[in-house]
Amino acid sequence: MKAPDIKVTPPGPKAREIVERDRAFIATTTKTAPIVAQRAQGSLVWDVDGNVLIDFATGISVLNIGASHPKVVQAVTEQAKLFTHFAGTDYYYEIQTRLAEKLGKITPGKHKKKVFFTNSGAESNEAALKIAKYNLKKQMFLAFLRAFHGRTQGALALTASKAKHRAGFFPTMPGVVHVPYAYCFRCPYKMTYPACDLYCANIIEDLYTKTIAPPADLAGIVLEPVQGEGGYIVPPPGWIKRISEIAKRAGAWLIADEVQSGFGRTGKWWGVDHDAVVPEVMTLAKAMGSGLPIGAAVFPAEMDFKEYGIHSNTYGGNPVAAAASLATIEVIESERLVERSERLGKHLAKRLDELKDKVSFVGDRRGLGLMQATEFVTDRKSNKPDPKIRDAITEDAYKHGLILLPCGDSTLRYIPALNVPEDILDAGIDVLAECFKRAAK
Ligand SMILES: Cc1ncc(COP(=O)(O)O)c(C=O)c1O
Repeated sequence: MKAPDIKVTPPGPKAREIVERDRAFIATTTKTAPIVAQRAQGSLVWDVDGNVLIDFATGISVLNIGASHPKVVQAVTEQAKLFTHFAGTDYYYEIQTRLAEKLGKITPGKHKKKVFFTNSGAESNEAALKIAKYNLKKQMFLAFLRAFHGRTQGALALTASKAKHRAGFFPTMPGVVHVPYAYCFRCPYKMTYPACDLYCANIIEDLYTKTIAPPADLAGIVLEPVQGEGGYIVPPPGWIKRISEIAKRAGAWLIADEVQSGFGRTGKWWGVDHDAVVPEVMTLAKAMGSGLPIGAAVFPAEMDFKEYGIHSNTYGGNPVAAAASLATIEVIESERLVERSERLGKHLAKRLDELKDKVSFVGDRRGLGLMQATEFVTDRKSNKPDPKIRDAITEDAYKHGLILLPCGDSTLRYIPALNVPEDILDAGIDVLAECFKRAAK
């Protein structure tokens, strides 16, 4: 079977008609491209006009085991026949217990853990904030510039990736201090790793906790092990560990937002595994349910709420979503997809480096595992961000059968499924290579 296979340049007539109706009736969100799916399987998407596209966006890093994996479809179908909802927060059923047990085993640390189930990444982070406040009786959080943790009022207070996410929505949750992330390509302190000795981490202890984020009030440091929406920014080795030590000395928790970096995406189970760090709270969503909405905050068991009714929701641990999640984890384990992510990530990085060498408009290629990205610049001398060329390539790519997703100021992410067949991975990179060639003319 041919992939990609473009019969009519997207958006074709059927796609255009649906896009128009969508615009009339659906709230304006973050639409990236007029691709209208009819069905999807693995790493391929069939659109409503009969085109076949290769998926390097995986529904914003959700489809780590590809679209509609047969084991997920089977688990969801079997569970839906039994019951679709029973309010797992108020009553009991085994499948959510099994999932919580499993999450406790596969997340870092041998200590006893508990899980609060949510419906999204933002809600997982909201839960993390509340669990930290509840236990530590402290109210302040430190987060990072360019971070993305969601758009609800608490999570939005942590988010700092684009001004338009926040503008007009103040006041959000008070008490959040932002500091620069370890963005080595554009080091805010104009230093170079490793000579910098992780200055951007050290300054938190040397300046921030001595001034505006006093340990007496600081409940947690919230970080993405790899910044996602902010531009696929990979901190240097040792940075997460240094931050975790600083948090500990301040009597604050490390809250690791693994919503985008989790479930094998970076070539390890979790982004924090790259520094062998055990956070107090880990927040999850996205790939956890292979597209069924489910998330979680995983935390030390002794930090649980002491009585019923303090925190809860309606859909958390929904049985169909829990079935999808258990099946997803089983597939990642049985198909050894974490190792595959690391191996294929190296191949993808190598090919992206080759592409970078052939053009003047890629300033940086970075990533871990199958969480890769290129940052576009006007030229490699000034390294000025060039969102125009990034956007032109994104459009050219889907018109030629490759689905991509931008992030940051001028970055494109490449996040195929961890089980993407190697020939499809290469076919997708070939489309990208042609886009680069056209853009260079
Ligand atoms: C790291 C991270 N945290 C939280 C979120 C918010 O997740 P959701 O959109 O499911 O609320 C996202 C979404 O992109 C994310 O990338």
